[in-house]
Amino acid sequence: MIPAAQPLIGAEERAAVDAVLQSGMIAQGPQVAAFEDEFGAFVAGRECIAVNSGTSALHLALLAMGIGPGDEVIVPSFTFAATANAVAVAGATPVFVDIAPDTFCIDPATIAPAITARTRAIIPVHLYGHPAAMAQIMDIAQEYELQVLEDAAQAHAASLEGRPVGAWGDAAAFSFYPTKNMTSGEGGMVVTGDPELARMVRLLRNQGMEKRYHNEVAGLNNRMTDVHAAIGRVQLGQLPGWTRQRQDNAAFLDGALQGVTTPPVRPGAEHVYHQYTIRVPGDRDAFVAALAERGVGSGVYYPVPVHRLPTFALDIDLPHTEEAARQVISLPVHPALSRADLETVAAAVNEVAAGVPA
Ligand SMILES: Cc1ncc(COP(=O)(O)O)c(C=O)c1O
Repeated sequence: MIPAAQPLIGAEERAAVDAVLQSGMIAQGPQVAAFEDEFGAFVAGRECIAVNSGTSALHLALLAMGIGPGDEVIVPSFTFAATANAVAVAGATPVFVDIAPDTFCIDPATIAPAITARTRAIIPVHLYGHPAAMAQIMDIAQEYELQVLEDAAQAHAASLEGRPVGAWGDAAAFSFYPTKNMTSGEGGMVVTGDPELARMVRLLRNQGMEKRYHNEVAGLNNRMTDVHAAIGRVQLGQLPGWTRQRQDNAAFLDGALQGVTTPPVRPGAEHVYHQYTIRVPGDRDAFVAALAERGVGSGVYYPVPVHRLPTFALDIDLPHTEEAARQVISLPVHPALSRADLETVAAAVNEVAAGVPA
Protein backbone atom coordinates (compact mmCIF):
# COMPACT_ATOMS: atom_id res chain seq x y z
CA MET A 1 0.00 0.00 0.00
CA ILE A 2 1.33 3.44 -0.88
CA PRO A 3 0.78 5.35 2.38
CA ALA A 4 -1.17 8.62 2.39
CA ALA A 5 1.51 10.16 4.62
CA GLN A 6 4.97 9.12 5.69
CA PRO A 7 7.14 10.93 8.25
CA LEU A 8 10.78 10.97 7.14
CA ILE A 9 13.02 10.41 10.16
CA GLY A 10 16.65 9.57 9.46
CA ALA A 11 20.06 9.15 11.00
CA GLU A 12 20.51 12.90 11.45
CA GLU A 13 17.41 13.20 13.62
CA ARG A 14 18.50 10.16 15.67
CA ALA A 15 21.98 11.64 16.18
CA ALA A 16 20.50 15.00 17.19
CA VAL A 17 18.22 13.32 19.76
CA ASP A 18 21.11 11.26 21.08
CA ALA A 19 23.23 14.37 21.52
CA VAL A 20 20.47 16.02 23.55
CA LEU A 21 20.01 12.91 25.71
CA GLN A 22 23.75 12.75 26.32
CA SER A 23 23.83 16.43 27.28
CA GLY A 24 21.53 15.67 30.21
CA MET A 25 19.53 18.83 29.41
CA ILE A 26 16.35 17.47 27.93
CA ALA A 27 13.61 19.94 28.88
CA GLN A 28 13.31 23.38 27.23
CA GLY A 29 16.84 24.66 26.66
CA PRO A 30 19.31 25.72 23.96
CA GLN A 31 17.83 23.50 21.23
CA VAL A 32 14.44 25.18 21.66
CA ALA A 33 16.03 28.64 21.51
CA ALA A 34 17.92 27.71 18.33
CA PHE A 35 14.81 26.18 16.74
CA GLU A 36 12.89 29.40 17.43
CA ASP A 37 15.65 31.50 15.87
CA GLU A 38 15.93 29.30 12.80
CA PHE A 39 12.17 29.09 12.23
CA GLY A 40 12.12 32.90 12.10
CA ALA A 41 13.82 32.75 8.69
CA PHE A 42 10.65 31.09 7.31
CA VAL A 43 8.28 33.77 8.65
CA ALA A 44 9.98 36.99 7.54
CA GLY A 45 11.98 37.30 10.75
CA ARG A 46 9.01 37.40 13.09
CA GLU A 47 9.46 36.25 16.68
CA CYS A 48 8.85 32.54 17.26
CA ILE A 49 7.85 30.79 20.48
CA ALA A 50 8.02 26.98 20.47
CA VAL A 51 5.33 25.02 22.31
CA ASN A 52 4.28 21.39 22.68
CA SER A 53 1.66 21.24 19.89
CA GLY A 54 -0.12 23.23 17.22
CA THR A 55 -3.22 23.20 19.39
CA SER A 56 -1.24 24.77 22.25
CA ALA A 57 0.07 27.37 19.80
CA LEU A 58 -3.49 28.35 18.86
CA HIS A 59 -4.66 28.26 22.48
CA LEU A 60 -1.82 30.37 23.90
CA ALA A 61 -2.04 32.87 21.05
CA LEU A 62 -5.75 33.35 21.77
CA LEU A 63 -5.14 33.73 25.52
CA ALA A 64 -2.32 36.21 24.84
CA MET A 65 -4.68 38.18 22.59
CA GLY A 66 -6.98 38.50 25.59
CA ILE A 67 -9.73 36.38 24.04
CA GLY A 68 -12.02 34.59 26.47
CA PRO A 69 -15.58 34.24 27.77
CA GLY A 70 -18.11 36.45 25.98
CA ASP A 71 -15.93 36.82 22.88
CA GLU A 72 -16.63 35.43 19.42
CA VAL A 73 -14.00 34.24 16.98
CA ILE A 74 -14.76 33.63 13.31
CA VAL A 75 -13.42 30.31 12.02
CA PRO A 76 -14.00 28.15 8.96
CA SER A 77 -15.97 24.96 9.66
CA PHE A 78 -13.98 23.01 7.06
CA THR A 79 -10.81 22.45 9.11
CA PHE A 80 -9.36 20.15 11.73
CA ALA A 81 -11.32 20.43 14.99
CA ALA A 82 -8.30 21.93 16.79
CA THR A 83 -8.97 25.34 15.19
CA ALA A 84 -12.35 25.64 16.89
CA ASN A 85 -11.40 23.63 19.98
CA ALA A 86 -8.73 26.19 20.85
CA VAL A 87 -11.36 28.93 20.75
CA ALA A 88 -13.77 26.92 22.92
CA VAL A 89 -11.09 25.93 25.44
CA ALA A 90 -10.11 29.61 25.73
CA GLY A 91 -13.72 30.15 26.84
CA ALA A 92 -14.80 32.01 23.70
CA THR A 93 -17.36 31.03 21.05
CA PRO A 94 -16.33 29.89 17.57
CA VAL A 95 -18.57 31.35 14.85
CA PHE A 96 -18.41 29.09 11.81
CA VAL A 97 -18.34 30.41 8.25
CA ASP A 98 -18.06 28.86 4.80
CA ILE A 99 -15.10 28.23 2.51
CA ALA A 100 -14.23 29.27 -1.02
CA PRO A 101 -14.82 26.11 -3.05
CA ASP A 102 -11.60 26.35 -5.11
CA THR A 103 -9.02 26.72 -2.31
CA PHE A 104 -11.03 25.10 0.53
CA CYS A 105 -9.95 28.10 2.68
CA ILE A 106 -12.24 30.56 4.50
CA ASP A 107 -14.26 32.70 2.07
CA PRO A 108 -13.61 36.37 2.96
CA ALA A 109 -17.11 37.25 1.68
CA THR A 110 -18.64 35.22 4.52
CA ILE A 111 -16.75 37.06 7.28
CA ALA A 112 -18.40 40.49 7.45
CA PRO A 113 -21.97 39.07 7.73
CA ALA A 114 -20.81 36.96 10.71
CA ILE A 115 -19.37 39.91 12.67
CA THR A 116 -21.25 41.00 15.80
CA ALA A 117 -20.48 43.37 18.67
CA ARG A 118 -18.75 40.44 20.39
CA THR A 119 -16.43 39.46 17.54
CA ARG A 120 -12.79 39.81 18.51
CA ALA A 121 -10.80 37.79 16.01
CA ILE A 122 -10.66 35.78 12.79
CA ILE A 123 -8.75 32.52 12.38
CA PRO A 124 -8.08 31.85 8.70
CA VAL A 125 -6.75 28.33 8.11
CA HIS A 126 -4.22 27.78 5.32
CA LEU A 127 -5.89 24.45 4.60
CA TYR A 128 -3.91 21.68 2.91
CA GLY A 129 -1.00 24.14 2.50
CA HIS A 130 -2.83 26.67 0.28
CA PRO A 131 -2.68 30.19 1.76
CA ALA A 132 -6.01 31.76 2.69
CA ALA A 133 -6.94 35.08 1.04
CA MET A 134 -4.94 37.10 3.57
CA ALA A 135 -5.02 40.53 1.87
CA GLN A 136 -8.84 40.63 1.93
CA ILE A 137 -8.96 39.15 5.44
CA MET A 138 -6.52 41.75 6.80
CA ASP A 139 -8.62 44.54 5.20
CA ILE A 140 -11.77 43.25 6.92
CA ALA A 141 -9.90 42.89 10.22
CA GLN A 142 -8.68 46.48 9.98
CA GLU A 143 -12.14 47.83 9.13
CA TYR A 144 -13.81 46.06 12.08
CA GLU A 145 -10.81 46.27 14.47
CA LEU A 146 -10.42 42.51 14.80
CA GLN A 147 -7.31 40.48 15.52
CA VAL A 148 -6.14 37.82 13.06
CA LEU A 149 -4.60 34.52 14.11
CA GLU A 150 -3.39 32.45 11.15
CA ASP A 151 -3.79 28.69 11.56
CA ALA A 152 -0.70 27.70 9.59
CA ALA A 153 -0.57 24.15 11.02
CA GLN A 154 -0.57 22.71 7.49
CA ALA A 155 1.33 25.40 5.63
CA HIS A 156 5.04 25.63 6.56
CA ALA A 157 6.82 27.78 3.95
CA ALA A 158 3.66 28.58 1.96
CA SER A 159 3.36 32.18 0.83
CA LEU A 160 1.08 34.68 -0.80
CA GLU A 161 2.30 37.54 -2.97
CA GLY A 162 5.82 36.68 -1.83
CA ARG A 163 4.95 37.05 1.85
CA PRO A 164 5.14 33.88 3.92
CA VAL A 165 2.13 32.60 5.81
CA GLY A 166 2.62 33.40 9.47
CA ALA A 167 3.81 36.90 8.54
CA TRP A 168 0.36 38.34 7.72
CA GLY A 169 -1.76 38.24 10.87
CA ASP A 170 -1.23 39.47 14.43
CA ALA A 171 -0.06 35.96 15.22
CA ALA A 172 0.12 32.52 13.66
CA ALA A 173 0.22 28.92 14.86
CA PHE A 174 2.22 26.12 13.21
CA SER A 175 2.11 22.38 14.02
CA PHE A 176 4.95 19.86 13.92
CA TYR A 177 2.80 16.74 14.25
CA PRO A 178 4.49 13.73 12.53
CA THR A 179 2.41 13.83 9.34
CA LYS A 180 2.94 17.57 8.77
CA ASN A 181 5.38 18.89 6.13
CA MET A 182 8.02 18.82 8.87
CA THR A 183 7.86 17.35 12.36
CA SER A 184 9.41 17.61 15.79
CA GLY A 185 7.57 14.49 17.02
CA GLU A 186 4.87 16.64 18.56
CA GLY A 187 5.21 20.39 18.71
CA GLY A 188 4.02 23.78 17.62
CA MET A 189 5.20 27.35 17.09
CA VAL A 190 3.54 30.68 17.81
CA VAL A 191 4.75 33.41 15.46
CA THR A 192 4.10 37.10 15.93
CA GLY A 193 5.42 40.53 15.01
CA ASP A 194 4.14 41.98 18.29
CA PRO A 195 6.73 41.88 21.11
CA GLU A 196 4.07 42.23 23.85
CA LEU A 197 2.09 39.32 22.45
CA ALA A 198 5.29 37.27 22.18
CA ARG A 199 6.16 37.99 25.79
CA MET A 200 2.68 36.95 26.94
CA VAL A 201 2.89 33.67 24.99
CA ARG A 202 6.29 33.00 26.58
CA LEU A 203 4.79 33.63 30.01
CA LEU A 204 1.72 31.49 29.36
CA ARG A 205 3.71 28.48 28.13
CA ASN A 206 5.77 28.46 31.34
CA GLN A 207 3.46 28.94 34.33
CA GLY A 208 3.49 32.71 33.84
CA MET A 209 7.18 32.97 34.67
CA GLU A 210 9.95 34.83 32.90
CA LYS A 211 12.08 34.80 36.03
CA ARG A 212 11.90 31.55 38.01
CA TYR A 213 9.35 31.65 40.86
CA HIS A 214 8.25 35.18 39.96
CA ASN A 215 4.98 34.12 38.33
CA GLU A 216 3.35 37.17 36.72
CA VAL A 217 0.19 35.57 35.29
CA ALA A 218 -1.56 32.22 35.65
CA GLY A 219 -0.03 30.11 32.90
CA LEU A 220 0.34 26.53 31.75
CA ASN A 221 3.19 24.15 31.03
CA ASN A 222 3.11 24.01 27.25
CA ARG A 223 6.87 24.01 26.76
CA MET A 224 8.65 22.15 23.97
CA THR A 225 11.51 19.86 25.04
CA ASP A 226 15.03 20.05 23.65
CA VAL A 227 14.56 16.49 22.37
CA HIS A 228 11.70 17.64 20.14
CA ALA A 229 13.43 20.86 19.12
CA ALA A 230 16.51 18.90 18.03
CA ILE A 231 14.34 16.82 15.68
CA GLY A 232 12.59 19.97 14.45
CA ARG A 233 15.90 21.71 13.65
CA VAL A 234 17.06 18.85 11.43
CA GLN A 235 13.68 18.71 9.71
CA LEU A 236 13.65 22.49 9.15
CA GLY A 237 16.85 22.07 7.16
CA GLN A 238 15.06 19.61 4.88
CA LEU A 239 11.89 21.69 4.53
CA PRO A 240 12.80 23.63 1.34
CA GLY A 241 13.77 20.45 -0.54
CA TRP A 242 10.78 18.49 0.71
CA THR A 243 8.47 21.37 -0.26
CA ARG A 244 9.82 21.38 -3.83
CA GLN A 245 9.33 17.63 -3.96
CA ARG A 246 5.71 17.96 -2.83
CA GLN A 247 5.17 20.64 -5.48
CA ASP A 248 6.76 18.46 -8.18
CA ASN A 249 4.60 15.51 -7.13
CA ALA A 250 1.51 17.73 -7.24
CA ALA A 251 2.46 18.96 -10.73
CA PHE A 252 2.72 15.35 -11.90
CA LEU A 253 -0.72 14.54 -10.49
CA ASP A 254 -2.20 17.75 -11.97
CA GLY A 255 -1.07 16.58 -15.39
CA ALA A 256 -1.97 12.91 -15.02
CA LEU A 257 -5.36 12.80 -13.30
CA GLN A 258 -8.60 12.57 -15.25
CA GLY A 259 -12.25 12.55 -14.25
CA VAL A 260 -11.66 14.26 -10.89
CA THR A 261 -11.24 17.91 -9.84
CA THR A 262 -7.59 18.69 -9.09
CA PRO A 263 -6.68 21.47 -6.60
CA PRO A 264 -6.25 24.87 -8.26
CA VAL A 265 -3.70 27.42 -7.02
CA ARG A 266 -4.74 31.06 -6.80
CA PRO A 267 -2.54 33.62 -8.61
CA GLY A 268 0.21 34.82 -6.27
CA ALA A 269 -0.17 31.80 -3.98
CA GLU A 270 2.58 29.30 -3.26
CA HIS A 271 0.85 26.04 -2.31
CA VAL A 272 3.00 23.63 -0.25
CA TYR A 273 0.67 20.62 -0.65
CA HIS A 274 0.46 19.36 2.89
CA GLN A 275 -2.40 17.50 1.23
CA TYR A 276 -3.15 17.03 -2.45
CA THR A 277 -6.92 17.09 -2.28
CA ILE A 278 -9.23 16.23 -5.15
CA ARG A 279 -12.99 16.15 -5.49
CA VAL A 280 -14.33 12.89 -6.81
CA PRO A 281 -17.59 12.04 -8.56
CA GLY A 282 -20.07 9.57 -7.08
CA ASP A 283 -19.78 7.85 -3.73
CA ARG A 284 -16.60 9.16 -2.08
CA ASP A 285 -16.25 6.33 0.45
CA ALA A 286 -16.58 3.74 -2.33
CA PHE A 287 -13.87 5.68 -4.24
CA VAL A 288 -11.55 5.48 -1.21
CA ALA A 289 -12.18 1.73 -0.91
CA ALA A 290 -11.52 1.20 -4.63
CA LEU A 291 -8.20 3.08 -4.35
CA ALA A 292 -7.21 0.92 -1.37
CA GLU A 293 -7.96 -2.22 -3.41
CA ARG A 294 -5.46 -0.88 -5.95
CA GLY A 295 -2.78 -0.34 -3.29
CA VAL A 296 -3.27 3.41 -2.93
CA GLY A 297 -3.76 4.87 0.53
CA SER A 298 -5.73 8.10 0.84
CA GLY A 299 -7.31 10.26 3.52
CA VAL A 300 -10.52 12.19 3.99
CA TYR A 301 -9.89 15.56 5.58
CA TYR A 302 -12.55 16.17 6.79
CA PRO A 303 -15.65 14.02 6.53
CA VAL A 304 -17.65 15.97 9.14
CA PRO A 305 -17.72 19.79 9.16
CA VAL A 306 -16.62 21.00 12.60
CA HIS A 307 -19.93 22.82 13.25
CA ARG A 308 -21.70 19.44 12.92
CA LEU A 309 -19.45 17.57 15.38
CA PRO A 310 -21.15 16.70 18.71
CA THR A 311 -18.88 19.31 20.33
CA PHE A 312 -20.69 22.16 18.59
CA ALA A 313 -23.76 20.50 16.96
CA LEU A 314 -24.92 23.59 15.10
CA ASP A 315 -27.65 23.39 12.48
CA ILE A 316 -26.39 26.14 10.18
CA ASP A 317 -26.16 26.18 6.41
CA LEU A 318 -22.60 26.21 5.01
CA PRO A 319 -23.14 24.72 1.54
CA HIS A 320 -19.54 24.76 0.25
CA THR A 321 -18.34 23.17 3.49
CA GLU A 322 -20.95 20.41 3.33
CA GLU A 323 -20.20 19.71 -0.31
CA ALA A 324 -16.43 19.52 0.28
CA ALA A 325 -16.94 17.18 3.26
CA ARG A 326 -18.88 14.84 0.93
CA GLN A 327 -16.47 14.97 -2.04
CA VAL A 328 -12.83 15.31 -0.95
CA ILE A 329 -10.07 12.73 -0.99
CA SER A 330 -6.42 13.51 -0.23
CA LEU A 331 -3.95 11.49 -2.29
CA PRO A 332 -0.34 10.67 -1.40
CA VAL A 333 1.90 13.65 -2.33
CA HIS A 334 4.67 13.33 0.29
CA PRO A 335 8.38 13.48 -0.59
CA ALA A 336 8.97 9.75 -0.06
CA LEU A 337 6.99 8.87 -3.22
CA SER A 338 8.85 7.48 -6.22
CA ARG A 339 7.89 8.18 -9.82
CA ALA A 340 6.49 4.64 -9.98
CA ASP A 341 4.35 5.35 -6.87
CA LEU A 342 2.96 8.49 -8.50
CA GLU A 343 2.16 6.57 -11.69
CA THR A 344 0.36 3.93 -9.60
CA VAL A 345 -1.65 6.63 -7.81
CA ALA A 346 -2.65 8.31 -11.08
CA ALA A 347 -3.55 5.05 -12.82
CA ALA A 348 -5.69 3.97 -9.85
CA VAL A 349 -7.53 7.30 -9.63
CA ASN A 350 -8.17 7.39 -13.38
CA GLU A 351 -9.42 3.82 -13.47
CA VAL A 352 -11.76 4.31 -10.51
CA ALA A 353 -13.04 7.66 -11.84
CA ALA A 354 -13.70 6.12 -15.28
CA GLY A 355 -15.86 3.45 -13.62
CA VAL A 356 -18.12 5.92 -11.79
CA PRO A 357 -21.54 6.04 -13.49
CA ALA A 358 -22.19 9.45 -15.09
C1 LIG B 1 -5.59 23.00 10.62
C2 LIG B 1 -4.98 22.46 11.88
N1 LIG B 1 -5.02 23.22 13.00
C3 LIG B 1 -4.47 22.80 14.15
C4 LIG B 1 -3.85 21.58 14.24
C5 LIG B 1 -3.34 21.14 15.57
O1 LIG B 1 -2.00 20.80 15.59
P1 LIG B 1 -1.46 19.69 16.63
O2 LIG B 1 -1.95 18.36 16.15
O3 LIG B 1 0.02 19.85 16.54
O4 LIG B 1 -1.99 20.05 17.96
C6 LIG B 1 -3.75 20.77 13.10
C7 LIG B 1 -3.03 19.49 13.08
O5 LIG B 1 -3.20 18.50 13.62
C8 LIG B 1 -4.35 21.21 11.90
O6 LIG B 1 -4.32 20.46 10.82
